[in-house]
Amino acid sequence: MSTTNFDVVVIGGGPGGYIAAIRAAQLGKNVACIDEWKNEKGGPAPGGTCTNIGCIPSKALLQSSEHFEHAGHHFADHGIGLKDLSIDVAKMLKRKDQVVKQNNDGILYLFKKNKVTFFHGRGSFVKAAGGAYEIAVAGDKPATLSATHVIVATGSNPRALPGAPFDEAAILSNDGALRIPAVPKTLGVIGSGVIGLEMGSVWRRLGAQVTVLEALPTFLGAVDEQVAKEAHKAFTKQGLKIELGVKIGEVKADKKGVSVAYTDAKGGAQTLAVDKLIVSIGRVPNTIGLNPEAVGLKLDERGAIVVDDECRTNLPNVWAIGDVVRGPMLAHKAEEEGVAVAERIAGQHGHVDFNTVPWVIYTSPEIAWVGQTEQQLKAAGRAYKAGSFPFMANGRARALGDTTGFVKFLADAKTDEILGVHIVGPFASELIAEAVVAMEFKASAEDIARICHAHPSLSEATKEAALAVDKRTLNF
Ligand code: FAD
Ligand code: NAI
Repeated sequence: MSTTNFDVVVIGGGPGGYIAAIRAAQLGKNVACIDEWKNEKGGPAPGGTCTNIGCIPSKALLQSSEHFEHAGHHFADHGIGLKDLSIDVAKMLKRKDQVVKQNNDGILYLFKKNKVTFFHGRGSFVKAAGGAYEIAVAGDKPATLSATHVIVATGSNPRALPGAPFDEAAILSNDGALRIPAVPKTLGVIGSGVIGLEMGSVWRRLGAQVTVLEALPTFLGAVDEQVAKEAHKAFTKQGLKIELGVKIGEVKADKKGVSVAYTDAKGGAQTLAVDKLIVSIGRVPNTIGLNPEAVGLKLDERGAIVVDDECRTNLPNVWAIGDVVRGPMLAHKAEEEGVAVAERIAGQHGHVDFNTVPWVIYTSPEIAWVGQTEQQLKAAGRAYKAGSFPFMANGRARALGDTTGFVKFLADAKTDEILGVHIVGPFASELIAEAVVAMEFKASAEDIARICHAHPSLSEATKEAALAVDKRTLNF
């Protein structure tokens, strides 16, 4: 088999890999991207976890289930009556699959547009030779590639509970959780992290009784405490049962369902019997089939590829980005690393500021934040001022009928520089962008307070929270 030479070969076509490939091609490099994900017909489905079984399908189902919840519980407040409300789960799942396919096709189009050569199959290191790396592609059309630079973007896989492997029928990872064929009467969720709360919300809104079992004694420990408290109150009120401080024991699945033995926070022995169980206890970096040993690529004890701050591995011209390396497992973090690495390869000075990577949990209320939490500032002994503003006092939120939550600013006590912004409430995912821009420009809370925000808009709550730092809110 002849060898095809490339300046850059990207292994993995998720948000990290496909964006890195496009940026490298924009910068004049001859680029290939290898991705092995298959659609139901066996064809290519680039976009990785994010597009196929992560960000995109979960948001499609969150939207559908939110419509159902609004129709069932909130339309009446607007004077809209509905008779015979029903759910067609098959249609809902089909719509989600169509949204996924549009994204898969979009990436294939972008590869063509940017002249990135796409290989559908599994890429693995063969050897390093003559200042380049040989990579084999195993798939429908096997190929051998030679690359001056390699970017590894092979993503992550769900972590299973010991003794309870995913069967995707009763014990579900995020994959199975996104395609339950009918609404289960009862649903258990192990882990009250991002996936547990988002997927638990989807199936609760559609009618399942959902119980979430969390090992830690605190709810959403990484989130600002005040926000976590408000979110816990809202989720509990919606009917999500959340048990903290549990220790999971034996998990048994049979045709009837799943039973989970656990010890509660008080040390009592309990059993949860449910129709389906989602296990969402974190994800592990994926290097299956990559053959890192062939070239001596270094992994850490968690299986993550070891990289420096600039995503350089222990090998010259081999880079790694996204979920397969340290740092938050977020699509936009993977993308930013992909762009920065492509620019470094082209001799530019790409940069990712981890302090301004936003986080969003797409529940209702949405939770979004950037920068430091109040507990982190206290632990660091940093002098700060805090200001918050409730959506209850915002005209647009009242008109929307969604007044849960608040916006909170944390600013340096002396310089007024914004150190963190935390939002729980409607469209927090969109509102957080203003805070990210402000922090990137090292803005002060006063800068936001002095900017004209459209009325009536939810963004006025951001301005008012900035005013609250100086104790001069106008509408509260
Ligand atoms: P991945 O997206 O995992 O892509 C890796 C790709 O590499 C895959 O296509 C895989 O098939 C391929 N691959 C692996 N090994 C090889 C090989 N040897 N050869 C060829 N191909 C290979 N993040 C957010 O920011 N926002 C969200 O709303 C969000 N929601 C999520 C919801 C769920 C349910 C889940 C599970 C995750 C969610 N995430 C979200 C996280 C996000 O999906 C990941 O952080 C992101 O996909 C990581 O991108 P990546 O490019 O590093 O890896
Ligand atoms: P997570 O790290 O968010 O949450 C896992 C939770 O499980 C934690 O609260 C942890 O304490 C708990 N846990 C761990 N072991 C346990 C055990 N044995 N018993 C009970 N509880 C246990 O991980 P999750 O939800 O699996 O998601 C993985 C990653 O995917 C997230 O960290 C995030 O990076 C990404 N993601 C991002 C989304 C977004 O940006 N909106 C949405 C979904 C996922």
